[in-house]
Amino acid sequence: MDGHELLDLAEQCAQAKKPIRVHCCTSTGCQAARSLEVKKALEKRVQDCQLADRVEVVGVGCMGFCGQGPMVELDSTDPQVTTTHYEKVTPAQAPSIIDTIQGGKTDALQGNSQHPFFAKQLLIVRNHSGKVDPERIEESIALGAYQALHHALFELTPEAVVQEISKSGLRGRGGAGYPTGLKWATVAKMPPGQKYVICNGDEGDPGAFMDRSVLESDPHRILEGMAIAGYAVGADQGFIYVRAEYPLAIHRLQKAIQQAKQKGFLGSQIFGSGFDFKVDIRVGAGAFVCGEETALIASVEGKRGTPRPRPPYPAISGLWQAPTLINNVETFANIAPIIRKGADWFAGIGTETSKGTKIFSLTGKVCNTGLIEVPMGISLRTIVEEMGGGVSEGQVKAVQTGGPSGGCIPSSYLDTPVDYESLAALGSMMGSGGMVVMDDKTSMVEVARFYMEFCRSESCGRCVPCRTGTVQLHDLLTKLVEGRGTAFDLAQMESLCQVVRHTSLCGLGMSAPNPIVSTLRYFPEEYQALLQPDRWRIPATVS
Ligand SMILES: Cc1cc2nc3c(=O)[nH]c(=O)nc-3n(C[C@H](O)[C@H](O)[C@H](O)COP(=O)(O)O)c2cc1C
Ligand code: SF4
Ligand code: FES
Repeated sequence: MDGHELLDLAEQCAQAKKPIRVHCCTSTGCQAARSLEVKKALEKRVQDCQLADRVEVVGVGCMGFCGQGPMVELDSTDPQVTTTHYEKVTPAQAPSIIDTIQGGKTDALQGNSQHPFFAKQLLIVRNHSGKVDPERIEESIALGAYQALHHALFELTPEAVVQEISKSGLRGRGGAGYPTGLKWATVAKMPPGQKYVICNGDEGDPGAFMDRSVLESDPHRILEGMAIAGYAVGADQGFIYVRAEYPLAIHRLQKAIQQAKQKGFLGSQIFGSGFDFKVDIRVGAGAFVCGEETALIASVEGKRGTPRPRPPYPAISGLWQAPTLINNVETFANIAPIIRKGADWFAGIGTETSKGTKIFSLTGKVCNTGLIEVPMGISLRTIVEEMGGGVSEGQVKAVQTGGPSGGCIPSSYLDTPVDYESLAALGSMMGSGGMVVMDDKTSMVEVARFYMEFCRSESCGRCVPCRTGTVQLHDLLTKLVEGRGTAFDLAQMESLCQVVRHTSLCGLGMSAPNPIVSTLRYFPEEYQALLQPDRWRIPATVS
């Protein structure tokens, strides 16, 4: 297929769409709220009313406002029918939504697309989520899927692709924010031979579901990003590592790979070029540590998923000792838009050092929960108060970002811009995108204990500081929470945090103390209030 044929195919696929599309979210969140029954009821009404010639019901991916699911959107190019979305739709209400097409009334809850939750978002990664049926490749082709891959293969050299990604300023969305172009250049510079591309879809942070949503809603975007990466670095094999708890994502990826292969977008001689690229899925058993790149590689090799010391980094010696490019789902999801629209376009969004957008799963005590994609540099206040609608009772007390490796930012810092450096300066981190809002009834010591409990149970046990340090830190926190702790325990805890942070082998242990350190930094009075009189009069070092 040449470039013209691909554009023709996109045109045909777009023409095949009916003027009124009823998008019904069939991603995991809405399925749990009975969206498949809603979809059936919508389809039945379309049939019963003989509207099938101009109305189609389409099962789509996540629309973002998951807390209000099941979500249904009437997406219309027919001037007689207004595009509208509905929230918390029940199977009983579904037929009346179809009736509105013919002037009828519905009691379904109509949403407000001007609400800041939607209006303040900037969609790059999620711009097709909730718009396409992820199980039909034609839907993605109609919106331009695989055109960036075609452009890269026929208009750009591998070096030019790497250069474009470097120039865009894209940084890895898996947590650390490592410059993506630099990582690609390192793998590309390794001598020709077997190389691999891995997409990290492990996503083990509690409360995070950004990557799952992207995989479920728009899998072709990831396959295209991986294939472009394969071309740029000289790899012909890719693996997507997804946890077994994400069965829908796995199912949709399998289907997407099969359909892309049938169209000649994956496999041998892609688009008739000399470039071959295969993608296979590897299913993880759900250990948080398997998201760490060296543990993930061990797991793909069929070994126990434990980290190993770095260097060598995977870019030099990774899967089966071959140079391996490993990037996060959201990182790969940015690649096709950058190649299509250019590095300068992408670099124009965000801040000096943090470019583009970031997806967060906004959860906790905030009124509006769900997935949001926002430009880097937006303030925490805009996210929490405007988009999230604040908390339903009392005041916002803190925002936790970065999951178990991150920290708690107090409400006095809500005007902080969301970018890698600003969050790190506050003792937290961007992480992969978990954002948990806490109200003034939340005990910050309990929060620290929750994350430590998570790290304790997820520690792989390979190195002593993390294996025993997380147990001891958890014990000390429990003692404090139960009112049995002393100033001596607090001092012990602080010094143990430093030991675990500086002597653990991998990022899990190195960052496990972060929730304690940040809550001690901003909420020392909550720890002090729990202390028992100290029999040995050893002073606490908490200021
Ligand atoms: C304990 C631990 C868990 C991690 N989990 C993930 C994960 O689920 N997804 C991810 O992309 N990166 C995760 N990472 C980061 C990866 O090791 C790696 O840096 C990342 O996949 C690189 O992709 P990026 O450059 O696109 O961010 C984790 C790191 C640690 C230490
Ligand atoms: S720091 Fe923890 S998770 Fe990482 S290797 Fe050591 S024991 Fe395993
Ligand atoms: S899962 Fe349906 S809107 Fe997110």
